[in-house]
Formats: sequence, C-alpha cells, structure tokens
Amino acid sequence: MNKTNNRFSITTAIDYPNGAPHLGHAYEKIVTDSYARWYRLMGNEVFFLTGTDENGQKLVKSAEMAGVDTKRYVDDNVVKFKELCARLNISYDDFIRTTEPRHIEATQEVWKKLEAKGDIYFDRYQGQYCLNCEAYYTELQAVDKKCPEHHTPLEIVEEEGYFLKTSQYQSWIINHIKSNPTFVMPDLSRNEILKRLESEPMKDLSITRPNKGWGIPVPGKPEYVIYTWFDALINYYTASQPRGFWPNNTHVIGRDILWFHAVIWPIMLHAASIPLHKQVYVHGMVLASDGKKMSKSLNNGVDPVDVINQVPVDSFRYYILRAIPSNGNGAFVMEDLLKRHQSELGNDYGNLLMRVVKLARKRIGDPQSPEGVKIAFNFTSFISDVKESMFKCEHHRALDRLWQEVNAVNGYINDQAPWAIKDDETKFKTVIYNGLYGIDVVSQVLTAFLPETGAKALASLGMKPGVLTTIPRAYNLVDPPVLFPRMESAKPE
Ligand code: ME8
Repeated sequence: MNKTNNRFSITTAIDYPNGAPHLGHAYEKIVTDSYARWYRLMGNEVFFLTGTDENGQKLVKSAEMAGVDTKRYVDDNVVKFKELCARLNISYDDFIRTTEPRHIEATQEVWKKLEAKGDIYFDRYQGQYCLNCEAYYTELQAVDKKCPEHHTPLEIVEEEGYFLKTSQYQSWIINHIKSNPTFVMPDLSRNEILKRLESEPMKDLSITRPNKGWGIPVPGKPEYVIYTWFDALINYYTASQPRGFWPNNTHVIGRDILWFHAVIWPIMLHAASIPLHKQVYVHGMVLASDGKKMSKSLNNGVDPVDVINQVPVDSFRYYILRAIPSNGNGAFVMEDLLKRHQSELGNDYGNLLMRVVKLARKRIGDPQSPEGVKIAFNFTSFISDVKESMFKCEHHRALDRLWQEVNAVNGYINDQAPWAIKDDETKFKTVIYNGLYGIDVVSQVLTAFLPETGAKALASLGMKPGVLTTIPRAYNLVDPPVLFPRMESAKPE
C-alpha cells in the first residue's frame, strides 16, 4: 500500500447489517486497522473509514423475516457492528451509514453528473439475480443457473429501469488496470479480473429498482431507487471527500466483491470525472476449520464475539493476522489460536518482557539510561523489511519478520544470561539495557498489529505509543502485567 506524501487513507468494505457481524467482517476490520495503525506509526496523517451498507433489498427481506420494521432492524444491527469494532480496537476515523443524509446527497450528486454526461439511459432488462450478492450474473458465470458465491438458485428478474453505460468503458478499464500494476493487489486478483474483462463483453449496469419504500430515490424520478451497489460504492467518496482524503489510497475488500471495486467503481468515477482511488487490495478469506467457506447452512461459522469472550483480543488479532495468509485463504482453527497464544505470545513475547523488566528493576532500579551502553542491535533492516511487506500488502510476512526480531532479542538475552552476571555491573547494565531497547522497538512495531499489547508493554518501560523511533532512549520501569495468561482450553460455541 502506497501513501500520498504524508497522507494515507484506507477503507474497509461497508458491511450488510442483516444480522450480527461474522468472522469475515472481524478479519477485514483487523487487517485494515493494522495498515491504518502502521501508517500512523510511520508518522503519516491517516484517514480510516468503515461503515454499513443499508439500502439493499436484502435488508428489507431480512427485516421482514425477523418481523421487524426495516429501519429498526438495521439500526439494531449497526449497534452490533460498532460494538464489535470497539472490542477489537478498530481505530476508524469515520463510520459511515449509507442511510445518512450526507451519503444520500453525495449519491444523488454523482447520479446527476452521470446523467448530465449522457451515461444513464432508460430501458428494459431481464437477468439472473442473487439477492444475497445484490448482483446479476451472466450465463457464463452461472452455468447451472446458481449463484457462484452462494450456490443458491438465481431469480429471473425482469424490469424497466435506468442503466449506466458501463460497456463503453471496457477497453478503458482494461488499459487502466494494465498500466497501473498496483491498482489491483495481489497479482492473483489482478489476473483474475483481467481474464474476466478480456473474455466477455461487458453489459451495461442496471442501476435502479422500483421504489418500494427503501433506498435512495433517483433525482427527479422518485418512483425508482438507486441500485444498492451504485450507492454503496459512493460511500468512500461521501466520507473522504469533505475531509480532503479523496482519492483514497486503498480499498480493502474480499474477493467476492472484486468486480465492483476494480471495474464498476473506477468506471463510475471516470465517467463522472472524479479522480480514481489508487488501489484495491483483496485480502484472504477466512474459512471454517473444515476448510470450507463459513456458511449458515453448513453450521460451521465462528462468532468473533464468542472468541474474544474467551481469549485476549490481541491473541485473536495476532492469530488472524499471522495465520491467514494476506493473499490467500486460511482456516480458522481455535486450537491453533490457543497454541500461538501460549507459545508465540505468552512464551516468546510475554516472558521476554516479564523477565527482562523484573530483573532490571531488581538489580538496577526503575530508571534505565542508554548512557555509556554499547548498543547491540541495529534495527534498520528489520524496519525496512516490515515496511516492504506492508507496502506489498503482505501483513502476515510483516508479522513473521517481527517475530524473527522478538526471537533475536530473546536469543540475545539467553546468550548473555544476565541473571548469571554477578560481579560485572557494567556488563549487566549493558545486557539489560539492550534487552529493554529491543523490547521497546519490537513493541512499538507491535502496536500496529496488537495495539493493546504494544501499549501495555511500552507502559512498563514508561513509554507511550507514538511515531516509531529506533533511537535508544531512557526508560522508567514498572512491573508488566501478565499479557497472555495460560489457558487450558477454549472453544467457540
Ligand atoms: O459485500 N473472510 O458486504 P458483506 C474474509 N455490502 N472476509 C470476508 C468473509 C470471510 N469469510 N466473508 C465476507 C458486502 N468477507 C457489501 C460491500 S462495499 C462498497 C459493499 C468480506 O457484509 C467481504 O469480502 O457481505 C467484504 O469485503 C466484507 O466482508 C463485507 O461483506
């Protein structure tokens, strides 16, 4: 992910609040949060946007099934998304709801621009629709007349309405993706989208539905509402533009919604003469422990709230960031989370902090100064490796590299065995100071991924999280808390 000067803006997809948030939602927010925090740590001004996508017909249907008024249903579910964000320490700067007046205005403004340009026309349409995706599928995509994502029968929809002339921009978008190699990341997704664009002629996009009382009315034609994907994509512009953060640097999304972000959204913007977002990063998908996609019908889903009710939130964040590859799929296995909690977090990191700080306090006291100490570590290549991985949207590699460094500090302490240095106070002070210095730098980097843990560790050195510095500094020690208590077993219900 690349920044613009010293500014960086990043977004998650906006979630359908047609139920409680699931593990995929939690994953996407944690991933995006880590990039936002990383760029803040690097001294940038960051804008991080998340929110909810509330105008679709599927919300109306879900509310009907729950026997609740749509507005009330959506409002209640949005609370659950916000609560999850708070529990996961998601540091968003804005949470947009697409039923807010600011978004209705922005959407209608974009509509008017496209209409004035002559890119919207009225026609009749027949297509195969999936309500869950809120999308039409072509015959090539749905050979068996089933949704390729949900494997449920597609509904034949035939209606009159308005269309966006997306087809006339097909060669423009192919060219844009080809000439901007980091516009769609990773390459696997880039190739997938180019393959689709080059194998079938694009159809114009149907962008309205008959107004049944829910959705954003078409300007001047209130008998229609704007198709939910058309309005949902505009959320990024609605929230970022007034704050001076449009165009966004990176949209973080899952692969199921790549077409809309890598093809439809840039076409809408280009047609409306609005600058394009710089990048779409497609993250991995969290699978169930059986390796299958989590789904209600297979009853193999995991509720993120159940997980964080049982383990520290940072054990969950760590596991999900490190074990699910940033550019592929990975299964969520609770036993593996517990193993990493115990060994990597508890033993490698928590114990390192505990034993060095306690020993330092016992033998020297609370203030620790770098004066007269020969510094044993050079963190230049560590920081530049993490930087490179984050730039390439490979956060799991960044964490691998961070753990290499945690182990290097551990290795140093084990080799130097300060507890066995009895008479040489200068040597003892050098070893202890270097241990603390190592903990300081790895903990600062850790704040991007595990903010609570990083902050607690820094607090035990008398430090606060801020912009990264690798300059050796004076510490004022306090006893660290047990960050990752031993756990016998835990199981999500
Ligand atoms: O698609 N693992 O909303 P949504 C990882 N409202 N990510 C997952 C996942 C999984 N198992 N399941 C879903 C929508 N996601 C639209 C977006 S944006 C203008 C509109 C990801 O609630 C999914 O890929 O169905 C998407 O990026 C996000 O969760 C929201 O999905």
